[in-house]
Amino acid sequence: MVCTLARPAGEPFLGGKDPPLVKNFTSSARPTLSNVFPTVMANFFPRWTNVLPFKIAICALSLAGGVVAAFTYYATPKTLVVGYQPAQPIPFSHRIHVEQVGLDCRYCHSFVDVAGHSNVPTSNTCWNCHQHVQKDSPKLQPLRDRMNEKHPDYGKPIEWVRIHKTPDYVYFNHAAHVNRGISCQSCHGRVDQMEVVYQDQNLSMGWCLECHREPEKHLRPLEEVYNLAYDPEKFLAENSIEGVKTTEDLGKKLKEQWQVKPPVSCAACHH
Ligand code: HEC
Ligand code: HEC
Ligand code: HEC
Ligand code: HEC
Ligand code: HEC
Repeated sequence: MVCTLARPAGEPFLGGKDPPLVKNFTSSARPTLSNVFPTVMANFFPRWTNVLPFKIAICALSLAGGVVAAFTYYATPKTLVVGYQPAQPIPFSHRIHVEQVGLDCRYCHSFVDVAGHSNVPTSNTCWNCHQHVQKDSPKLQPLRDRMNEKHPDYGKPIEWVRIHKTPDYVYFNHAAHVNRGISCQSCHGRVDQMEVVYQDQNLSMGWCLECHREPEKHLRPLEEVYNLAYDPEKFLAENSIEGVKTTEDLGKKLKEQWQVKPPVSCAACHH
C-alpha cells in the first residue's frame, strides 16, 4: 500500500547499490516510481528514501481526495494489463465495422473529440443499422431484446465490459489528445483490425511520460488521427511540405507549428 512510509522489504538499509538508470521503457515493463524518477542522491541514503517525497505527496493527495480505498482496489487492476481481452455480451467486431463497413470511430465514440471521456455507443446507434441488417443473427439477440418493448431487458443498456481504465487519482482527457494530432492508434493499437478489443499499451505513468517527453514521435496531421492505417512514409510521398524530408522532420514540424508542450508536472495528471 502506497501510504506505508516504512522501508520496503528486501531493500538494503545501508550500502545498497544504486539501481540502473532506466531511460527507456518498453510497453510491457511497468516502470516503478524509482525508475521513472532516477535520482542521483548520495549513496549513504538508502534508495527507498528517494521516493519518500512522492509517497508523501501522493498520500496527502489520496487522503485529501478520500480515495484511499480506490488506491488499494486499483493496486494491480486488470485494466492496466497489456493483452486484457474480456468477452463481450455481443461479439462486436471492430474489423467488420471499421475496415469492412468503413465507419469512422466518431460514428460510435461520438464524444471522443469533444469531451474528456470517450463514450461507448448506446443500443440506438447499433439499431440504426441492425433493424435492417443481419436482422436474424443470433449474435444480435441481446440487442433485439433491448429494443423489444415486450422483453424484460427493454431499454436496458448493453453491459459492455470496460477494458481501459486509469486509476481514479489520474486525470485523463481524450479531446486534449486527439485534437492535438495524437491518434487512437498510439494508445489503443490497431483497433480497426481487432475482432475482439484487447489492451495494447500498459497505460502506466512511465508510458504517459515517455510520449509527453517526445510527442514528435507520435504527432500526425489532424486529418489522419482517425485513420489507423496511416503510413507517414506514404503521406510524405503524396504531400510535399516545406523543410520536411523524413518522417522525423514531420513530427518535429508539427510539434513546432502547433507548439505542442505536453505537461510533465505531477499536478497536470494528479489534481
Ligand atoms: C459501430 C460502432 C463502433 C465503431 C465505428 C467503433 N467502435 Fe470502438 N467500440 C464499440 C463498442 C460497442 C465497444 C464496446 C465493446 C468492445 O469492446 O468491443 C467499443 C470499444 C472500443 C474500445 C475499448 C473500450 C474500453 O472498454 O476500454 C476502444 C479503445 C475502441 N472501441 C476504439 C475504437 C476506435 C479507435 C475506432 C475507430 C477506428 C472505433 N472504436 C470504432 C463500437 C464502435
Ligand atoms: C452503419 C451500419 C452499422 C452499425 C451502426 C452497426 N453495424 Fe453491426 N454490422 C453492420 C454490417 C454491414 C455488418 C456485416 C454484415 C455482413 O457481413 O453480412 C454488421 C455485422 C455485425 C455483427 C455480426 C453479425 C453476424 O451474425 O455475423 C454483429 C454482432 C454486429 N454487427 C453488432 C453491432 C453492434 C453491437 C453495433 C452497435 C455498437 C453495430 N453492429 C452497429 C452494420 C452496422
Ligand atoms: C493519449 C492516449 C489515448 C488516445 C490518443 C486515445 N485514447 Fe482512448 N483511452 C485512453 C485511456 C488512458 C483510457 C482510459 C481512460 C479512463 O480511465 O478514463 C481510454 C479509454 C477509452 C475508451 C473506454 C471508455 C469507457 O468509459 O468505457 C474508449 C471507448 C476509447 N478510449 C476510445 C478511443 C478512441 C476512439 C480514440 C481515438 C479517436 C482514443 N480512445 C484515443 C487513452 C487514449
Ligand atoms: C502518444 C502520446 C501521448 C500519450 C501516450 C499520452 N499523452 Fe497526454 N498529451 C500528449 C499531447 C501531444 C498533449 C497535448 C499537449 C499540448 O496541447 O501542447 C497531451 C496533453 C495532456 C494533458 C494536458 C491537457 C489536459 O487535458 O489538461 C494531460 C493532463 C495529459 N496529457 C495526461 C496524460 C495521461 C494521464 C496519459 C497516460 C494515461 C497521457 N497523457 C498519455 C501526448 C500523449
Ligand atoms: C502524464 C501524466 C502523469 C504525470 C505528469 C505524473 N503522473 Fe503519476 N501517474 C500517472 C498514471 C497514469 C498513474 C497510474 C498508472 C501507474 O500506476 O503507473 C500514476 C501513478 C502514480 C503513483 C502511484 C504509483 C504506484 O505504483 O502505485 C504515484 C505515487 C504518482 N503517480 C506520483 C506522481 C508524481 C509525484 C508526479 C510528479 C513528479 C507524477 N506522478 C506525475 C500519470 C502521471
